[in-house]
This record gives sequence, C-alpha cells and structure tokens, in this order.
Amino acid sequence: MLGRDDVMPDTDVPTLEAVRLTKKYGSFTAVSELNLKIEGSKCVGFLGPNGAGKTTALKMFTDLIRPSSGQALINGINVHTNKKAALAKVATLIETPEIYPSLTPREGLRMIAEIRGVPSKEIEKRIDEAVAEVHMSEWIDKRVGRFSKGMKQRICIASALLSDPCVLLLDEPTTGLDPRGMSEVRDIVKSLKGKKRLIFMSSHILSEVSEICDEVAMIDHGKLLVYDTISNVTAKFSQGTNMVEVVLSRSLDPQLVTQNIAKFTNVISAEQLNDKNLRIKFNGGLEVQERLLSQLVSLNIGVISYRAASSELEDVYLNLIKDTV
Ligand SMILES: Nc1ncnc2c1ncn2[C@@H]1O[C@H](COP(=O)(O)OP(=O)(O)OP(=O)(O)O)[C@@H](O)[C@H]1O
Ligand SMILES: [Mg+2]
Repeated sequence: MLGRDDVMPDTDVPTLEAVRLTKKYGSFTAVSELNLKIEGSKCVGFLGPNGAGKTTALKMFTDLIRPSSGQALINGINVHTNKKAALAKVATLIETPEIYPSLTPREGLRMIAEIRGVPSKEIEKRIDEAVAEVHMSEWIDKRVGRFSKGMKQRICIASALLSDPCVLLLDEPTTGLDPRGMSEVRDIVKSLKGKKRLIFMSSHILSEVSEICDEVAMIDHGKLLVYDTISNVTAKFSQGTNMVEVVLSRSLDPQLVTQNIAKFTNVISAEQLNDKNLRIKFNGGLEVQERLLSQLVSLNIGVISYRAASSELEDVYLNLIKDTV
C-alpha cells in the first residue's frame, strides 16, 4: 500500500504543507499544531513577532530540526522520513554560512555544488545560471572578501539556486543589510518569483512583504493566526478601513483632491503626500477598491501605480498580534 510519503510529487505545482506540525522544547511549545498548505508558484510572507516560531518552522521544513509531532511535507513528501526526495528541489537560506572570503563566487559555489551532488558535467553551467539570476555575473571571478554584505547575500542566494529549486525557504533574507542591499535582495527575490517557484519567506518588514509577496501567513506563540492573500487578509482584518497609495505621472491639483476625490462614495479621507502621491482611506473591501481605481482613472490624472498601502498590513498585523499577547 502506498503511504502519504510515497505519493509522486506533481513537479508542476510546488507545495509546502504542515500537518499538525509541532516542536516542543521541554514543556515549552515553539510551534504548536501548525496546519498550513501552500500550493503553486507564488511568494508567501511568513510574519510574526520575535520568538513566534518562524525559524523553528522553517527549520522543520528542511529537517534541520526534527518535529516533536506532526509532519512537514514538500511536494507531498515527508521531509523527515524521506529527506533526500523531499529536499531535492528545495533551496534554503536559513543560517547560511558565508563563502570563505579568499574564494571567488565561482570557486565557492563549485565547492557547494560538489557537496550537494550536482552532477559534475552540469556544475559550471548551473553556477553561471545561478550567478546570473542574482545579477552578479561580472563579479563571478572576484574575491568574495571584498564584497558588500548585500553582494554576499546575493551569492548566498545563488548558492541556494544551484539545484534549480522549485521551493525556496528564506529566513529574513534582507535582515542586516543597508537600504541599498535590502533593495537589491528584494529585487532578486521578486525576480525569483517566475520559473514556477514557491517562495516562503519570513520577514519583519511589512512593507517588504506587501511589495514582494502574494500571500501572507501570520504566526504567534507557535500558532497560525491567518493564511490568505494579502488583499483578503487586509480586507478581512483591517476593521473595514482600507488604504491605497496612488502614484501619478504628473502633478495633481490639490483642489481636485479636496473637492472631488475626497467626496467619492466610501472615501474617508484623501491625503496628498506630495504633488504626485496620494493616500486614500476608504470603507469597504475589494469592490470599493476596484471602483475607486476606475473613478481615479476616469479623472485622467495620470495614475501609474495603485496599491494597498503597506501600513494597512501593519494595522492588521498589530491587531492580530495584540490579541494573542
Ligand atoms: N534550541 C532551543 N531550545 C529552547 N528553546 C528554543 C530553541 N530554539 C528556539 N527556541 C525558542 O522557540 C521560540 C521560537 O523561536 P524561533 O527562533 O522559531 O522564533 P522566530 O519567530 O524565528 O523569531 P525571530 O523573529 O526573533 O527570528 C522562541 O521562544 C525561542 O526562544
Ligand atoms: Mg527567526
């Protein structure tokens, strides 16, 4: 009889699943009966306060630590009981050691590829592709010791890409980087979203999650609070008030804001952040958000960007976390 672990993975649709996944340290429960199923190529943010259990959960998905009970499955395969098959197409960035400073990315990645068992005929090609994906091709033969932290992190991401993964697990990939490094790594993560990959990424930076991720899973005290698309989560938990930020290609007449936009149905306030940026608070969900966009477009004011404001996710986060303290 076939057990759950033996189910053949459907490689076209990457999946990551926790089934009552639990980790206890003595009497302390770090991850508590976590049930979560992420399916398909998308980027999911993993949010929660310090000590919530994010790293612990991510480590159980890579068999770095063993669950006390429950299962972590990748593409339907149990990570703990069938590690090699489960992790064949998985890349992780969790406590990644840095490449030795006197090596070049090519040398360092060659060592890592050999350790990981990438077939020797493919190694050079995989290194070139992985380094190109993190936009570091021109640095491939320079010593890592001279790289900025952001560049080193990009090389770490390249090392994760050597096995051409369909599932990527990233633990706070931008933490500790300066703003430019953060933005570089963020752009890389965004570009990794293609190629049928599932990315599960922990972060404390809510604007980053709003920008990069399609969905969000929130955890506190080891328990899952919510898992849904960002727009559903914000529509559901932001107490009826939503916010969008609008970017315009040309300067906006302030009178139009006060006399017109602020008076649209359901709009609570329309605030001009500067001559080309507008923040609109409104009551209601996605239908209202959609109508508002068409109203703005029909004003012919040069709308070039329209998105849920990051602070909206922050409101939801703080509301949900507050209840569990
Ligand atoms: N080896 C261990 N022994 C005992 N407790 C541990 C161990 N590892 C983690 N913990 C505890 O488990 C809880 C969850 O830790 P974890 O590192 O998963 O949190 P996190 O959500 O990743 O937090 P952060 O945002 O700070 O990275 C914490 O309270 C932590 O102290
Ligand atoms: Mg952590």
